[in-house]
Amino acid sequence: MSEFLKPSRNGHAVTYLCGHSLGLQPTGAQAYVQTELDRWASLAVEGHFVGEDPWMTFHESLAGPMGYIVGARPEQVSIQNTLSVNIHLMLASFYRPAGKRVKVLMEAPAFPSDQYAVETHLKVRGQVPERDIIEVAHDPANYLLGTDRILDLINRHQDELALVFLGGVQYISGEVLDMAAITRACRERGIACGWDLAHAVGNVDLQLEAWDPDFAVWCCYKYLNGGPGTLGGLFMPTRNQGPEVPRLAGWWGYKKETRFKMRKGFDPVPTADGWALSNPPVLAMAPLKASLPMFEAAGMPQLRQKSRQLVQRARKGLSAQGGWQVFTPDAAESGNMLTLYRPNARPAFDALMERNIVGDWREPGIIRVAFCPLYNTDADVDTLLAALAEA
Ligand SMILES: Cc1ncc(COP(=O)(O)O)c(C=O)c1O
Repeated sequence: MSEFLKPSRNGHAVTYLCGHSLGLQPTGAQAYVQTELDRWASLAVEGHFVGEDPWMTFHESLAGPMGYIVGARPEQVSIQNTLSVNIHLMLASFYRPAGKRVKVLMEAPAFPSDQYAVETHLKVRGQVPERDIIEVAHDPANYLLGTDRILDLINRHQDELALVFLGGVQYISGEVLDMAAITRACRERGIACGWDLAHAVGNVDLQLEAWDPDFAVWCCYKYLNGGPGTLGGLFMPTRNQGPEVPRLAGWWGYKKETRFKMRKGFDPVPTADGWALSNPPVLAMAPLKASLPMFEAAGMPQLRQKSRQLVQRARKGLSAQGGWQVFTPDAAESGNMLTLYRPNARPAFDALMERNIVGDWREPGIIRVAFCPLYNTDADVDTLLAALAEA
């Protein structure tokens, strides 16, 4: 816990189980931000070019640790924009309707931004969302999607699909899809495949280079502890990095060597950074310098092991107590988050908050709690179980 600042409520330390929404602040974050404020004060515009970590290339040192977390090489990842913006950028590049293949397969209900992005993007492109989006509906009893159901839909609609765009870890249930199998099924059928990894990154094992989707996008403020609203990340496989791939561009995606010649005609950086639009907001990015290296230092396999152990401890306690349905599948690959359900659960959620146990609430009776291996402990699990026993 010493590497993160612990929040308090009403003068009491919080048991923080909400890393699936906003990760805690790494203790080193303030110093990284302060350094950039100081550099701005003392160097002004020259901060772009001088010093140990000039702003021109500030994001580059994050690509190694980011790539480690998602199973990709540094040049295959880029930290830029925000998740919703990156979804639009990826749709512009990889939704390529042609002939009968005009449809997008996605989950329903998907996270609102994903829904709105696909719906409005299709409209901008002259398509009809009601006709051209194929939805995989959740099972209303437990919010689960099921990899098999998705594979079946991909198979049945293969001649009409231009793109499959799904969340790797489902945001309500915590279900982890078999991303390798779904990506393979798309690639074998010539369908573009993209992943929203907002709830997967820094949580479950990701091997993006090996799985080879057409793109993946994520945010950095949940399990990556980058701070509220900080930048998003994207994965671009090497095969898609060439200048022939169409895109919506900005000057920061232009080749570094000649960017300041300010020439006409877009000539992209030949890496994932070729999708960058703007010069990066260094103050928002600085906390990631404290956070991302922690994953490599701790080791993803070790973090996964601790996460499984915390989650299993919680599951065992919950099943001994009874009274809660756990939507999150107890699968070999399951993440940090558990989704608990019972009718009339609101008083239980309020009782947790009264005891300064912070998870989050979703209608109609869902409490989501996450056990983040970088900062949660067995004691946090036991505090939750004790409170639920009395709730
Ligand atoms: C699955 C998913 N998609 C999209 C978003 C939107 O992210 P942003 O507000 O960073 O654009 C979120 C945010 O929590 C999310 O969880």
